[in-house]
Amino acid sequence: MVSPGKKIPTSFLEDLLLDKSKENLLHIKDAAIDSSIAGVVFASLNGEITYMNRSFLDMARVSENDSPSQLKDFFPESPKTDEMFGQLAIGGQSIEEHWIKRCDGSTMEASVTLSIVTDRAEKPIAAMLSCLDITEQKNAEREKRLLHTQLLHSAKLAEIGVLAASIIHEINTPLAIMKASTHVLKTRLGDSIDPKVTDAVNRHEIALDRVARIVNGLRRFARAEEDKDEVTNIHRVVEETMFLVKDLFKKVGINIETHLKSAAPQIIGQFGKLQQVLMNLISNGKDAIESKASKGGTIVIRTSDVGESIQLSISDDGCGIPEDVLAKMFDAFFTTKPAGAGTGLGLSISRSIVTSMKGEMSIESKVGQGTTFTFKFPRIKTA
Ligand SMILES: Nc1ncnc2c1ncn2[C@@H]1O[C@H](COP(=O)(O)OP(=O)(O)O)[C@@H](O)[C@H]1O
Ligand SMILES: [Mg+2]
Repeated sequence: MVSPGKKIPTSFLEDLLLDKSKENLLHIKDAAIDSSIAGVVFASLNGEITYMNRSFLDMARVSENDSPSQLKDFFPESPKTDEMFGQLAIGGQSIEEHWIKRCDGSTMEASVTLSIVTDRAEKPIAAMLSCLDITEQKNAEREKRLLHTQLLHSAKLAEIGVLAASIIHEINTPLAIMKASTHVLKTRLGDSIDPKVTDAVNRHEIALDRVARIVNGLRRFARAEEDKDEVTNIHRVVEETMFLVKDLFKKVGINIETHLKSAAPQIIGQFGKLQQVLMNLISNGKDAIESKASKGGTIVIRTSDVGESIQLSISDDGCGIPEDVLAKMFDAFFTTKPAGAGTGLGLSISRSIVTSMKGEMSIESKVGQGTTFTFKFPRIKTA
């Protein structure tokens, strides 16, 4: 607890006590300073503290046992601090934002005015510091700036997405032409030529089919979904997503295993949105694996039937999630990834999609070992 009005008699105040009415007036002023919401400190011209009001004792967390003697002790050593006290030495005044070192070792941000108090003859007799705690305001400003940066980044990613979707669309036409002409080539060449040429044309056709499947998969993923729920087969969602990412992940040392054991994996939902959830979770898994010092890892996707639900789980052997992150990771724009790498939107969007499909979500995670996200969706029985 803080002792109220830790006061050391100030000679300059006593000097001004000329008569009783003045004494009364001074008493009122004294009480006003003592109960002001601004922190007020008086010091001698060489910085020795002579008085601290209640607000300052509170904000600087000065306890009974503390006896700060120098005004400078409340400020970190820095050119800015030197400049502030330098101004005082030449009789100037400074009004600036400063970090203040509290007596309990913590810090606060304050708007600080440091000025000289003069007597009637304008002779400097003391230094007065007054300050307001602006820590919360500064934190809110920082948060707002961060959110703004993240919003811009998300908007940029969305633009890239739109661009990619139109490129994918454009690829489709030349792809159809290539497929048709390969077919013509194949039928015209027949069996009458060099087998090496036949083999090359066949491999060309297989590669084209693969490109077409990837392009179609991406088109489906990029397509703006209508808000219409329909019977959706979870296994098909997993398989199509795997087709898009499995090879890419393998190239960076991450294996994706699938154990699709549900006998009736139909739910009511939307294919594209479910695919978005899966994409978000496996790319989080990839990031978690890549943030570990050891190279490579595994992501396992499982489905099974549990009572009336179908269960979908995505496990990774990545870095795991510490308690403090677990508490905040579903907040929009919460990310622990460097700027440009994360938007902080994946989990908040995934959760709202899963909830809209009447799904439930749970998480198990061990720091250093990995994480499992489990979803339960109400299963529908098809005839
Ligand atoms: N599988 C995971 N392993 C470890 N941490 C994770 C995992 N999934 C999510 N997280 C944590 O949750 C945060 C929020 O995830 P998300 O909403 O997808 O945003 P982003 O991936 O853009 O950071 C991540 O930054 C990360 O710290
Ligand atoms: Mg993510």
